[in-house]
Amino acid sequence: GALFSGALLGAAAAATAAPDKAAAPASAGFMEEGIPAAGESEPFIKLGGLSDHVEGILRCRRIVFIACGTSYHACLVARKTLEEFAAMPVVVELAGDFMDREAPVFRDDTCVFVSQSGETADTLRALEYAKAKGALCVGITNTVGSAISNATHCGVHLNAGFEIGVASTKAYTSQIVALTMMALLLGADSRAKMPKRIAAMRALARLPDDAREVLELDASMHKLAEQLKDAQSLIFFGRGYNFSTALEAALKVKEVALIHSEGINAGEMKHGPLALVDENLPIVVIATQDAMHRKMESVIQQLLARSAKLVILCNTGDDAMTQFEGRGCTLIRVPRTVDALQPIINIIPLQLLSYHLTTLRGFNVDQPRNLAKSVTVT
Ligand code: G6P
Repeated sequence: GALFSGALLGAAAAATAAPDKAAAPASAGFMEEGIPAAGESEPFIKLGGLSDHVEGILRCRRIVFIACGTSYHACLVARKTLEEFAAMPVVVELAGDFMDREAPVFRDDTCVFVSQSGETADTLRALEYAKAKGALCVGITNTVGSAISNATHCGVHLNAGFEIGVASTKAYTSQIVALTMMALLLGADSRAKMPKRIAAMRALARLPDDAREVLELDASMHKLAEQLKDAQSLIFFGRGYNFSTALEAALKVKEVALIHSEGINAGEMKHGPLALVDENLPIVVIATQDAMHRKMESVIQQLLARSAKLVILCNTGDDAMTQFEGRGCTLIRVPRTVDALQPIINIIPLQLLSYHLTTLRGFNVDQPRNLAKSVTVT
């Protein structure tokens, strides 16, 4: 079996920084800029199941993420996080397509298999293939003893708890947390990135509070679902870290609410999707205050110029978005966190929206028609 373990975020004394002796909360005693002052605690990431392999992963030619469905979307977030914090070359593959192509894999590749169930046949087949090519195989799963956790060389258990609904929700947010921790671990040697890393670790420690706050949007998401429940189609626009949010929100809407939905990279808007825009098509624009904020503001202006009906997901206190309220847009306000973690906060109201769309349309939210929780055939 593989060496797997759960994840730990904590703070150790700066002088010793002994990872396994820590216990204090990560938010303790840090200066505002994120750099611990002399004698203050320094946060750290511990992923016990990866610790023996960090050197090997850092030496690899590239990281190849391989997954299906929602897990694939979590990998798209991880690609950017690894690029940002560890400056590593990353590719992301849909397991089925990867095998259809019999894509080249090298001995010095690290292949990361992300799967809630740990049993998805396409992902498992890709794992056997990559292993036979001599790559280091890492598993990120939510199921102890699953086929993927057993067959990989090392990995991380999500510990998200048993996920009942067919459509993955808490596993998705937990996958992003685990993958962000992995990126922060692999980027630990970069002095230049240290303030950003520490800010991200502090934000990780605050994430439960942010998630609690965003869950309070439940009633407004119910109201929004009442307005959207008869829509023929629902489009989500996002870019950068939140391209994944757009894809994942659209997947939720189509798989449980049974409404046609597409997640589109806002950078591609002019290359086709703009032709769809009119006053009837509801569009959700993800425009939180990350590096893509200015570009998303311009996307909103362009959509409004074509009479689009918009729902804008933005941060609490983002004054730049207030102007759109008077122009027929509905605003969803969410707490702000670091760019890498914002997709976790952003997906929650959209998961709630899908949930309410589903129940209002009279469908079963836990067991959508034609779908299985774990797809064990290729
Ligand atoms: C099925 C489920 C999806 C899931 C996908 C990948 O299609 O319905 O919710 O995202 O499989 O599953 P995995 O267990 O590998 O993450």
